[in-house]
Amino acid sequence: MSENKVKFITRSAKLVDAEKIFALIHLNRDQLVPRSMGNIVENIDRFTVAVSGSDIVGCATYQIHPEIGDAEAATVEIQSVAVRAPYRRNGVGKALIEAVIAKASAVDPKEFIVLTFAPEFFTSLGFVEIPKTKVMHKLYTGCINCTKHKNPFTCPEIAMVRRV
Ligand SMILES: CC(C)(COP(=O)(O)OP(=O)(O)OC[C@H]1O[C@@H](n2cnc3c(N)ncnc32)[C@H](O)[C@@H]1OP(=O)(O)O)[C@@H](O)C(=O)NCCC(=O)NCCS
Repeated sequence: MSENKVKFITRSAKLVDAEKIFALIHLNRDQLVPRSMGNIVENIDRFTVAVSGSDIVGCATYQIHPEIGDAEAATVEIQSVAVRAPYRRNGVGKALIEAVIAKASAVDPKEFIVLTFAPEFFTSLGFVEIPKTKVMHKLYTGCINCTKHKNPFTCPEIAMVRRV
């Protein structure tokens, strides 16, 4: 049995964490949709952070999509998942996703989705790939603001789902 090298906890984010979350998302801008400080502050109650010592070493959040499928058993999208590079492969990302799923489960969703460049990570957490056509609404609301690729259907990001 291997022992994790890094000691960390996950907890709900506080307003005081917003600047560090902003920096972490910006550092991973090639993989993540950008967020302004204002957006992070407005949505701070949905963020979970991983803390090691006094450092924020990871973050993740979610958004409810009642417009996809059944409004009473909504789809929840996992967003802005990032772990600082020196802390990776220590279970920090996994703990963040488990914490976000536990938090969002309070609304009784039917599934969790993610659009990601890290499919192996999400596969290890029980997500499976789905065609992007299953998340059309997300593509035409979120992806439309992305300047990295001309067309969301040729973008190499992979759509994945974990059903509850
Ligand atoms: C993806 C990311 C969040 C993973 O964080 P992490 O803390 O390293 O993840 P974990 O240590 O919890 O990994 C859990 C499992 O996922 C899989 N995994 C994680 N990173 C992987 C990688 N780069 N390649 C293959 N498998 C990987 C492994 O099975 C791993 O278990 P193991 O280390 O025991 O083999 C991190 O690499 C990151 O911040 N990447 C940049 C931003 C990004 O791509 N975010 C996802 C977009 S939604």
